[in-house]
Amino acid sequence: MKKNILLGVCGGVAAYKSAELVRLLQREGFEVRVMMTAAAARFVGPLTFQALSGHPVATNLLDADQESAMGHIRLARWPDQILIAPATAHFMARIAHGLADDILSAVCLAARVPIRLAPAMNTAMWLNPATQSNRQVLESRGIRLLGPGQGELACGESGEGRMLDPDEIIDRLRETFQTGPLQGQSALVTAGPTREPLDPVRFISNRSSGKMGYALAEALRSAGASVTLVSGPVALPAPPGVELIRVETALQMRDAVMARISQAPPGLFVACAAVADYRPEHAASGKIKKTDANMTLSLTRNPDILTEVAALPPGSRPFCVGFAAETEDIRRLGEEKRRCKGVDLLAANLVGGPQGGFEDNNNALTLLWADGQAELPMMPKRELAAALVSFIEERFFACNPSS
Ligand code: PMT
Repeated sequence: MKKNILLGVCGGVAAYKSAELVRLLQREGFEVRVMMTAAAARFVGPLTFQALSGHPVATNLLDADQESAMGHIRLARWPDQILIAPATAHFMARIAHGLADDILSAVCLAARVPIRLAPAMNTAMWLNPATQSNRQVLESRGIRLLGPGQGELACGESGEGRMLDPDEIIDRLRETFQTGPLQGQSALVTAGPTREPLDPVRFISNRSSGKMGYALAEALRSAGASVTLVSGPVALPAPPGVELIRVETALQMRDAVMARISQAPPGLFVACAAVADYRPEHAASGKIKKTDANMTLSLTRNPDILTEVAALPPGSRPFCVGFAAETEDIRRLGEEKRRCKGVDLLAANLVGGPQGGFEDNNNALTLLWADGQAELPMMPKRELAAALVSFIEERFFACNPSS
């Protein structure tokens, strides 16, 4: 299947490499359209990109001719992904702040598809705390950075900041367009713990490391799905090819999940996060002071994200996979959770023991669905995730024969 990619070119010397990138993307089977900033058009003429891509190049947000040919909203809806190469420090700052004052930033703001940036700038500009903080903001919103690489820079210095070569960019993109049984499906996965603040420096949380959920996101990606991972605070890097949205509390996780579903309902929802069932009724604005008296915490219920998603009406309800973390009797308690939360497939695991469950690299699962069950024995979480995804595929296609 041909995929559409929208290449955005910012104003930097590395813009000359983007012409080669168009050719390599086409060789990979992409249909390519190009948009350029005004500064980019001073480095390489739009005609070059028009001739290479076979399409007019979008350069202007407020040009009536361009808007009538393909307005910025239609342009934002056209691609399966957006690649900005080179991405300058200035461009990163603009999209980190949600500006939409030129064609590239307006399209990025209006797009609902994965966005990748290949930064290119002087080392000092890249390492500047302002750029690093913009990078963090962008990554926390699921925008992936490809590079920058190390090497000689146009300014004569050598260091970090060089735009990756076109073939390196293609290698990174390949990871995001794998084929597999779930190709064309999208999956939303939750992972890790949530933190429920007591005051600015303390919180209630649990032992989830995110290993199981991140392994699942990777396994779904390897099976061809396009994956969004909503993750609580963990010490794991973003899995390759997966859009990562970082959150902290259960309420933030719920909002991120529901926002993503209302934008574009996924085919699959896999709830692996260990979401706090309760949060402190009041989070103090300053550090709570120690006194001689005992302290009683008043907790209030958090929304149950999985139950809420599983209760969505047909059309926006994904195929729902839930987990159950239990310290005993996992089959009976897991079956209760499956019914009570209304999920299509439930994976129950034993937690709190010497092996498996939270934090460990290994785990075992008991799988429960309406008319069957299966055991996946103790194994590394990555292998277990691949085995669970095979089950998910089977159950998903049994329930959605036309998918
Ligand atoms: O992260 P690791 O260290 O690798 O550990 C993996 C794991 C043990 C966390 C994982 O395998 C697991 O069991 N995840 C679910 C943990 C959990 O919170 O289970 P639960 O039985 O309390 O919740 C049942 C289901 O409802 C889960 O799918 C959970 O994501 C979901 N839930 C729970 C509460 C809530 N407020 N919202 C939810 O969506």
